[in-house]
Amino acid sequence: MDQSIDNVQDGELFPTYKRWDITFEKASGETITDKSGNTYMDFMSGIGVVNLGHGHPTVVQAVENQLHKGWHASNFFHYEEQQQAVQLLTTHSCGDLVFFANSGAEANEAAIKLARKHTGRRKIISFVQSFHGRTFGSMAATGQESIHKGFGPMLEGFEYLPYNDVNELEKAVDENTAAVILEVVQGEGGVHPATDDFLKAIEKITQNSGSLLICDEIQTGLGRTGKFFAHEHSGIKPDIITTAKALGNGFPVGAMIGKSHLKEAFGPGSHGTTFGGNPLAMAAVNATLQTLLKEGWIEAAASKGEQFLKELHHQLMPLKNVKEIRGLGMMAGIELTDPAAEKIMALQDKGILVIAAGPNVIRLLPPLTTEWDTLMKGVQLLKEVLNEPK
Ligand SMILES: Cc1ncc(COP(=O)(O)O)c(C=O)c1O
Repeated sequence: MDQSIDNVQDGELFPTYKRWDITFEKASGETITDKSGNTYMDFMSGIGVVNLGHGHPTVVQAVENQLHKGWHASNFFHYEEQQQAVQLLTTHSCGDLVFFANSGAEANEAAIKLARKHTGRRKIISFVQSFHGRTFGSMAATGQESIHKGFGPMLEGFEYLPYNDVNELEKAVDENTAAVILEVVQGEGGVHPATDDFLKAIEKITQNSGSLLICDEIQTGLGRTGKFFAHEHSGIKPDIITTAKALGNGFPVGAMIGKSHLKEAFGPGSHGTTFGGNPLAMAAVNATLQTLLKEGWIEAAASKGEQFLKELHHQLMPLKNVKEIRGLGMMAGIELTDPAAEKIMALQDKGILVIAAGPNVIRLLPPLTTEWDTLMKGVQLLKEVLNEPK
């Protein structure tokens, strides 16, 4: 008998996640409560998702209202809610057209397909340590061997260059290049921001070669870095932007936004989705984006984030095991001299939830709504834990 089957009890999840010893009970604002009644300050936002905090009343109300109106008809119908979401996304970005999906990986999948179809070229360039998702296209675009391991062969035509290296990019982009895809701040790969020079060079090189620039803003978008989309910091205008995570403040939804000249390549029958753009998701998107914009959370993330990063530097850089602190807006990475996992568990014991980004980096993605006093409480807890002798 197969030993592995023998070890499995009926009704287990596939162990794709190394789960923590916490059972979720409920969440509200910036706090998660577990089954035993313990509360945690959420400094990870469900991995960059609840930018407005858990259960934001405006988003909850919008989804609840839509729930009673109807939640599925299919994409053969016009949905007013979809048109409103398109308007919000295109008014606040350099794009003109939107394709809705259900996740970040699906949005990237659409972007890769669109780039190949529009250019008629096959080469897709991405960067070492990038993360773009787990489907075959987005996995192939991900520049991390550990993500590819065991799933080969990868899709053909993907190349990985060192991040922030203009020379290598100039050499690699040619008449076969369909697109360059990048995260403006590499999230999963360790919180590495792209330099302004690098972003401007990518824009110029892709334009000159007739290839497309795709900004994966799935983690960095929607106020996280203090702009609606993070590429705005450098003034570049990508051909395609992908977004998900915070787009529905926790409701599963993704989107690909593209410039008008890409319209022909995605004509009827070229791409599709059953659930993408459903009215429930659209209600969540509209409420989330309107709240982000109306209540000034993006500007708040810019100013609070800058102070937060300064405070992290000031309080943590003197500690022996802190090597570097990087970030942009409300996205921060604390690189340690040793593994982050143990420290993350110690932080949980103190009532604060953070996540890793690679083996040695503690990643902080608090909701943009987190009050300054709570942020400072978090800094103090980090200081206590990182200061502890081994
Ligand atoms: C930059 C980036 N792209 C794509 C993805 C994949 O998104 P999803 O998990 O919604 O498929 C992620 C998820 O962490 C991400 O951070």
